[in-house]
Amino acid sequence: MIAIQFVCLGNICRSPMAEGIFTAIARERWPERDLIIASAGTGGWHAGNPPDPRACAVAAQYGVDISQLRARRFQPDDFHRYDLILAMDAANLAEVNRYRPGAGGRAQTALYLDYALGRVGDVEDPYYGGAEDFEAVYALLESAARALIDRLDAVRPITPGTMRPAQ
Ligand code: 4NP
Repeated sequence: MIAIQFVCLGNICRSPMAEGIFTAIARERWPERDLIIASAGTGGWHAGNPPDPRACAVAAQYGVDISQLRARRFQPDDFHRYDLILAMDAANLAEVNRYRPGAGGRAQTALYLDYALGRVGDVEDPYYGGAEDFEAVYALLESAARALIDRLDAVRPITPGTMRPAQ
């Protein structure tokens, strides 16, 4: 079992797209693997809201439905809920890590593109941009999701009953 949380600022654009894309690809690539995939925002302004309509629209174009997701604010207890907390940008990674002292928990935190693609960089916030910015974010998140799965496959633990050897 692996539990992963994607984190951005509002949890209505980048991280719900990351959650939906990763979930869709992982279900295909890892039909046998137990997964908990979630997302959160370091800001709480949009808590309870569905993703931005532009994020829903671009995901729907590629057959990924994220319309049922609801924004949730990151909380320090998430360090106990997830194995991996992947931030969309350096500012949100710093914000997550600010809660770390005293929080405990097993979660490893990292920048998503760095962890998945070995490339230090941000998934830029498309909130103030246009449809083409959402398209670009989608494409980047799709390559990151595939690379993350490759990386996790390489370190896949063998747990009797839940795992099969990598294909
Ligand atoms: P996200 O984008 O962090 O990718 O969800 C944003 C959404 C909302 C705001 C900022 C960024 N906002 O300021 O409300």
